[in-house]
Amino acid sequence: MDMNTSEAIRARRSIRKYQPGAPIPAKHVQQLLEAAMLAPSAVNSRPWEFVVVESSAVKEQLMAAHPYTGMLKTASLAIVVCGRPDLQEGKCGPFWPQDCGAAIENLLLQAVELGYGTCWCGCYPAMERVEALQKILDVTSVPLAIVAVGVPDEQPAPRGFYDPSRVKYL
Ligand SMILES: Cc1cc2nc3c(=O)[nH]c(=O)nc-3n(C[C@H](O)[C@H](O)[C@H](O)COP(=O)(O)O)c2cc1C
Repeated sequence: MDMNTSEAIRARRSIRKYQPGAPIPAKHVQQLLEAAMLAPSAVNSRPWEFVVVESSAVKEQLMAAHPYTGMLKTASLAIVVCGRPDLQEGKCGPFWPQDCGAAIENLLLQAVELGYGTCWCGCYPAMERVEALQKILDVTSVPLAIVAVGVPDEQPAPRGFYDPSRVKYL
């Protein structure tokens, strides 16, 4: 798909049905992760790390730990975006949730351009999800979101709304 940023922003929707078993080449996974890592971050601390889950068994465990991740059943993989508050200690913050949010949105938009669908599933600050995911993934960083990635098997229409009541000009 050839599209510019403006088109990708407007086309993106959360996708919850994917073509089961569709392969995602390693170079595309790396492109998604690179886009995430190019996000801005407070004092350029890049307070994130990523766990790429391809294993069906681990995806099942994620679905059991987070009640709103049923789309992982058909997703090709899950990318768990984890915060690293330790990288901001004594420097700034804590801005890591914002930084990770920017990384996630970059990943979502890169996926649109590559023809993949995604769904952002929030974990932090729901601490029971965070703690369950730390165990499943064997990490000490803070799982902020599970991002489902796959080839879309549904095409929700672009939303296309602009709400002037949420904007104040001074
Ligand atoms: C912080 C955050 C947490 C979310 N958590 C979930 C989730 O757990 N499960 C899910 O299916 N969608 C989740 N979503 C997706 C939203 O439901 C979705 O973005 C919203 O309804 C707007 O739809 P759109 O993404 O298609 O524009 C989450 C989105 C954000 C930003």
